[in-house]
Amino acid sequence: MKIIHIQSVVSILLHICFSCLIISCLGLSTKPIKSINPVKGLPLPPLAQNVLNFADERLAIVYPTIQKFKETITSDPLGITKTWVGSDICKYKGFFCESPPYNSSAIAVASIDFNGFQLSAPSLGGFLDQLPDLALFHANSNSFSGTISSNIAKLPYLYEFDISNNQFSGSFPISIMNMPSLSFLDIRFNSFSGSVPAQLFTKDLNALFINNNNFMMKLPENIASDTIFLLTLANNKFFGSIPPSIFKYMSSLTEALFLNNFLTGCLPHEVGFLREAVVFDAGNNQLTGPLPFSLGCLENLEVLNLAGNMFYGMVPEVVCLLGNLGNLTLSDNYFTMVGPICMGLIKNGVLDVRNNCIPGLPFQRSMDECVAFLSRPRFCQNVHKEMFSYIPCWLPKFESLKLAPSPT
Ligand SMILES: *[C@@H]1O[C@H](CO)[C@@H](O)[C@H](O)[C@H]1NC(C)=O
Ligand SMILES: *[C@@H]1O[C@H](CO)[C@@H](O)[C@H](O)[C@H]1NC(C)=O
Repeated sequence: MKIIHIQSVVSILLHICFSCLIISCLGLSTKPIKSINPVKGLPLPPLAQNVLNFADERLAIVYPTIQKFKETITSDPLGITKTWVGSDICKYKGFFCESPPYNSSAIAVASIDFNGFQLSAPSLGGFLDQLPDLALFHANSNSFSGTISSNIAKLPYLYEFDISNNQFSGSFPISIMNMPSLSFLDIRFNSFSGSVPAQLFTKDLNALFINNNNFMMKLPENIASDTIFLLTLANNKFFGSIPPSIFKYMSSLTEALFLNNFLTGCLPHEVGFLREAVVFDAGNNQLTGPLPFSLGCLENLEVLNLAGNMFYGMVPEVVCLLGNLGNLTLSDNYFTMVGPICMGLIKNGVLDVRNNCIPGLPFQRSMDECVAFLSRPRFCQNVHKEMFSYIPCWLPKFESLKLAPSPT
């Protein structure tokens, strides 16, 4: 027995080491204890290793990784890391264990949820990429920064990756592109800049949130993924026109958020292919042209925001016929006409057309402003004029309306 051995040498040392052992048992200190025998100058074996008893070797392997990461944390106002002691990693706040996919009797750290923990650390490198069985990583609203290690591409099971609302900056973490299982990517509310790889838009993701960064690039021509249902590019500096491929090949989208960018050109009629869309928001860009009638095909649409652009012409009645629409915001454009169905939506507060050029309605632009805008010819390089009235779906309600004799 070690303790008996020590006792036979110096009794004071026994006292110190015994205290250390008790502290270790209580989980108050987890650093390996390196005691030097002052008499013979021989190092004693570290005692802490003997008291940590892990439920699975996978936990023993990640233990030093977690402890090393803990030491890099510079701020922990909620006292989260106080719980990161001892061998029961599965009880640490923010850590969750499960069996990995390849072994149902094993226990491993399978997910991390640090959402709202307000932790600060200069990097996740050496931590995140050293947790080989991780499937979910959520770290929303912390103060993590630095760069994302290229080693995250080696995590075979990681499919949800959320580092939103942190202080990451620099270019898009390119290693994300090589993550084999990724389906949910959320890097919004950071300070990433530059461009994102065009292939990001063809990766088989379910959700892509890159809003509220400083990405500046022309939207790539080929945007296609038939798995994606949430796409949020808002509050960046994307420019160019919205490529028709988005609508054609992302027909599973339920939410498409393009607002607050520098997008130009017209809305292509392919927008009518977004049959699953519930929210479509391209507000505050520089889009122009008449609205495509094909918007009338988006039968699930509840929110349509195109405010703050340069759309003009008549608000298509077929859009106002959409049965689920609860909020149609077209304010701050240059529309000149609304029909009776749209007028009904204005009256019941669904349609907002303030600050347009519609004669007879309140809160419109000045005559001078409207004349100045409408006297300049506008072109849509990306859309053929005759396609604006093309409707790529069967709308019996609209058809019967067209065939009905005019009330006058
Ligand atoms: C599964 O994990 C357990 C616990 O770590 C281990 O004892 C066992 O050998 C593993 N089985 C295989 C087939 O690797
Ligand atoms: C409708 O949507 C606009 C733009 O997204 C928003 O500003 C407004 O508050 C919404 N109106 C209602 C009543 O929800």
